[in-house]
Parts: sequence; C-alpha cells; structure tokens
Amino acid sequence: MMLTVLNQIPVPKDIPLPMPLPEWLLVIILVFSFLLHILFINIMIGGGVLTFWYELKGKKNKDYDNLAREIAATITVNKSLAVVLGVAPLLSINVLYTLYFYSSNALTGNIWISIVPWVAVSFLLFYLHKYSWDRLADNKPVHLGILGIAVFSFLLIPFIFLTNINLMLFPERWGEIQGFFDALTLPNVFPRYFHFITASMAVTGLFLAFWFGRKGFKTKGKFESLSKNEIKKQMLNLALVATGLQFIFGPLLFLTLPAKGITWGLFWVILAGATLAGIVLYQLWKMINAQSNIPGKRFYLVLGLFTFLVAFMGTGRHMYRESALSTHKKMMAERTAAHWDAVRQAHENLLLPQVESEAGSYTPGQNIFQTNCVICHAPATRLIGPSMAEAVPVYENNADALKQWIKEPGRKRMDYPPMAGFPHFTEKQLTDVANYVLQTEWN
Ligand code: HEC
Repeated sequence: MMLTVLNQIPVPKDIPLPMPLPEWLLVIILVFSFLLHILFINIMIGGGVLTFWYELKGKKNKDYDNLAREIAATITVNKSLAVVLGVAPLLSINVLYTLYFYSSNALTGNIWISIVPWVAVSFLLFYLHKYSWDRLADNKPVHLGILGIAVFSFLLIPFIFLTNINLMLFPERWGEIQGFFDALTLPNVFPRYFHFITASMAVTGLFLAFWFGRKGFKTKGKFESLSKNEIKKQMLNLALVATGLQFIFGPLLFLTLPAKGITWGLFWVILAGATLAGIVLYQLWKMINAQSNIPGKRFYLVLGLFTFLVAFMGTGRHMYRESALSTHKKMMAERTAAHWDAVRQAHENLLLPQVESEAGSYTPGQNIFQTNCVICHAPATRLIGPSMAEAVPVYENNADALKQWIKEPGRKRMDYPPMAGFPHFTEKQLTDVANYVLQTEWN
C-alpha cells in the first residue's frame, strides 16, 4: 500500500549543478534574510491595516485621521525595505529548493504569477492614497476605497505566497493539485495565514509604539486630545492582544501540520519560542501598566526577547521543511542517480569498440565504419538501424554476403526503415569494412 502511494508521487530529476555556496551557508542566509524581509513585510501589512482602521475611526474624531496619516507615512518606506530585503531569501530558496519551489510555482500557476500585478497595484495605490489625503479630505469614501483595495492586495499577496511555499512541502500531493485553489485545501494553509497576520499585527504594534514613543515624535499641533502616552498604550495593547492570539493560532498551526515533518527537535524549538512569547506577553503587560518609557529598558528587553522568539520560530520553520522533505529528497537523489546511470549507459552503448591497427590508429575498415555507418548503427543500442550486436551474427564466416548487403541492402525488418546501400564503395572498401564488422566484438 505504502509503496503504491510512493510510486504515484511525482519525483523530478534534480539539476546536476553544484551549489554556488556551501549548503549550510545558504541555509543561514535563507533563514535570517527571510526573517529580516518578513519583519518589514509585517510592519508594512500591519501599517496598512492600522491606517485603514484609524482613518475609519477618524471620520468621527479628527485626531485619529491624523494618526492614520502618520502611520501611512511609514508604509511606503517599509514596503521599499521589504522588497529589497526579499531578494536574498528568494534567491536562496531558489537555489536550495530549486525543484520544490519551481514545482509549486508551476502548480499554482496563474494565481502565483498574479503576485506581480498585485504588488504593482498595491504599491501605486498606497502612494496615491498617501498623496491624495488633502485633496480627498472631503471625499473619504473614495480615499478609504483606494486604501481598502491597497490593503486587500497587501493581505492577498502573502496569502498566495504562503500557499505556494506550503504546497512545496507536500510533493506527495502534487499529483492531485490542479491550481491554486486546490492548494488551499492542504490542511494548514489557513492556520498558517492567521498565524502570520497576527504576527504582523504584533510586530507592527511594537514598531509603532517605538515610532510614536521616540523623542523626536512631537504630538503638539498634530492632535487635539490624543496624547503621546495614549497612542503608545494603544500600540502596546495591539502587540499584547496579537501576541496573546498567537497562543490560539500557534497551536492550531502546529496541530494541523502534517505529522511527517514533526520531530522532537522541532517540538522543543517551538516550545522554547512559545515560552519566550509567554515572557514577552508578561513584559508587555507590565510595560503598559507601568507606563514605561519607550524606548527604555523594558522596551529593549521585550525587543531582545522578541528577536529570539522570532529566531526560534524561523528555525522551527526551517526544521519542519527539512524533515518534511527528507524522504522526497532521498527519492529525488535516487531518481537523479538512476537517470545519470542510464545516460552514461546509453553513451557507452554508442561508443565503438577500439580495434587498433599496427600503426596505432584506426584500421581502414573502422575508418569507413566511423564515417559511414555510426549515424545509424551503435554497438548495442537500436538507433535508426539495428544494433551491430543484433545484425552481425547472421554473417559470421560469410564476408561476401555482408559485402553484398552493404552494397545493395535488401529488406528485412518491417519495424525499421530500409537501409540505403553503398554501391559506390570499391571492392577494397567493402572488404575492409566487412572485415572490421566481422572481427569486432559488438556487445
Ligand atoms: C541511414 C541509416 C543507415 C546507414 C548509414 C547504414 N545502415 Fe545498415 N541498416 C539500416 C537499417 C534501417 C537497417 C535495417 C534494414 C532492414 O532490416 O530492412 C540496417 C541493417 C543493417 C545490417 C543488417 C542486415 C541483416 O541482414 O540483418 C547490417 C549488417 C548493416 N545494416 C550494416 C551497415 C554498415 C556496415 C553500414 C555502413 C557502411 C550501414 N549499415 C549503414 C540503416 C543504415
């Protein structure tokens, strides 16, 4: 049963090129450059969502409209950083997981490639939204509409990306997945997405608490009643609630992960991350209640803890990927080895046996064979004509018949085309090539 299932798993051949860097180095680059990239993705998405939320709130209270505007100003910068920092992980995933990444890209096809226009549209809309704040001040529905589409595509892009990356981990399902929507039916797509969005909100909360808490940020003249403390508190509360929610989405994601990649090592790494999340939660709560300075001691503590927490989760993510793919990677390595064996075998079958003359070069007969016969005849493989191993035995001890065939071939095998003859060969040429053919061991 297991075997039949394994037999149906698509197993591509690997590309026989060496890695441009040692594999461990590429893995480190992938894990850490990805975390850096995702950090800015997080605050870009969280910033988008919050801008929408506060601008909506701002319809009743102008202060919130101003706050939204302050947040919006951070999005485009963070977006640019996110894009630039996305290059390294994208390249390293391509090198490390070439066939896995390629296969899931191909399987999610059109929707996957639609990321490109979605990115372009959302970026342009964010700029449009940012620069039309005053002009559309009296037309909030339109202004919010622009933002709404931009935020929607911000939320959609990681969803597509994550579905694709997730599909990559399950080659055993590739055979039945026909497009993006099929890929959504893999068990952990949605928990993974919620986990990601919630993380985005937590990171954004921390970032904005820092952003609005910093000395250089003046509230004077910007807000009527909204104080710096109040803004800080709202941002920290967001980080607190979002981190708290991870205690629902985290386990949900862990429990929906297909068991094949779960190991004890992974379990401990995730548990360590979760423990740190618990401490972060507590420290955030204290920070809110004690109205701590930002940036201040406790804030840096939280930031440090958070960094480790994210590093643990990022490592766990990589560990799961590695163990989930290990069986398939082995199958792929075997398949690749078998393929190259076959290629080598085929190549060897085409090589002519060397018969050296006294002068140490080809005999005249071998020369004639090389120039006139090898395009259609190989020693042990069917080409256009039958293999020599098959064709020659009939003529054993009968050079004349062979010469006759070469000069004017008859018709024998109905599953082959007829052979064109060599009526222009001299008697000597015919004798030489016939002798070569008859004296050679063909298999
Ligand atoms: C353009 C392709 C082509 C070239 C060139 C060619 N052959 Fe053939 N040869 C064939 C095909 C096709 C057959 C099978 C014909 C048949 O069985 O009807 C064949 C059959 C043969 C046979 C088997 C005859 C038998 O009785 O079973 C021999 C021997 C042979 N070729 C020798 C040669 C030699 C020697 C040369 C070079 C001087 C040569 N061939 C060049 C295509 C070619």
